[in-house]
Amino acid sequence: MSASPSRDLPLAWVTGASGLIGWELVRAARAGAAPGWRVRGLTRADVDLANPRAVDELFEQERPGLIVHCAALSRTGACQADPAQAFRQNVEVPLGLLERLSAGRFVFFSSDLVFDGLHGGYVETDPPHPVNVYGQTKWKTEQTVLSRPNALVIRTSLNYGHSLTGDRAFNEEMVNTWKSGRPVQAFVDEYRCPIAASETARWTWDLIRSGQSGVIHLAGAERLSRWQIATEIARHYPALNPRIIPVTLGEHVGPPRAPDVSLNCEQLSGCLGRPLPAFRPWLAGNEPIHTV
Ligand SMILES: NC(=O)c1ccc[n+]([C@@H]2O[C@H](COP(=O)([O-])OP(=O)(O)OC[C@H]3O[C@@H](n4cnc5c(N)ncnc54)[C@H](OP(=O)(O)O)[C@@H]3O)[C@@H](O)[C@H]2O)c1
Repeated sequence: MSASPSRDLPLAWVTGASGLIGWELVRAARAGAAPGWRVRGLTRADVDLANPRAVDELFEQERPGLIVHCAALSRTGACQADPAQAFRQNVEVPLGLLERLSAGRFVFFSSDLVFDGLHGGYVETDPPHPVNVYGQTKWKTEQTVLSRPNALVIRTSLNYGHSLTGDRAFNEEMVNTWKSGRPVQAFVDEYRCPIAASETARWTWDLIRSGQSGVIHLAGAERLSRWQIATEIARHYPALNPRIIPVTLGEHVGPPRAPDVSLNCEQLSGCLGRPLPAFRPWLAGNEPIHTV
């Protein structure tokens, strides 16, 4: 999965390139968002990143100068069900790549779920305190990545989009539920800052170009409840007769949830000199009404 043809440019790997954000990063690079890099999207078909020998071999052959690491066990439920696997995929794999990349730049995708969600509006210097296994793996990896001077940790929130497999993004899960005739349950008191994955990709390449390092928040400008988000998505699928059942965290049975992990992204908007997109206007302007 190659994005720019020139052989003279340094090589950038985007791992997890068949996933939601990785694919958008490759697409954005193809559209010119990553000048200065020869971008190669790596999928599981290219290399199983959990196989050290296969990774060593590919490193030896290709010697990337930049790795944008999107591969992960990204579903919180899967991490909670198998913490050992979550640790392998979300900690051992990225740290193995970091170790091999002695002189290059490493960009690690982390999450708003490193926070416990007790107050919201988190800035980069707020102390993480994850409440689930997924968040714990992200926070553990962040700490080692950040010990490298030119590494970048991007904490993002719920990403909206259309994935190659049709089931990666939260909105795709909702639509698939409605298509099967079931209602979507949505928390009225759990808050995130959703953003389109295509926007995440463009902002990420701009950040890389700016030379920024350390930790930075990249999310939508609007703090919305899960219920507000579902309601907004539903408006675009009238033909599915989408039903939403409002629920509260007080009724939730299962692994702990973080109530308000909204992110303050002023550092990023200051760095790149423009405001982050608010989700509802973005959706209204970009997503055609589907009649399926
Ligand atoms: N999407 C969001 O809302 C969101 C929010 C906050 C943070 N993030 C973080 O952002 C990053 C990208 O998220 P995403 O939504 O694009 O994730 P995604 O859609 O789940 O994609 C992850 C990709 O990683 C690949 N992968 C996993 N283990 C691998 C391995 N051992 N070898 C090779 N490939 C492997 C998967 O391949 P297979 O398909 O073959 O399994 C998949 O293509 C992740 O770190 C995620 O935790 C995402």
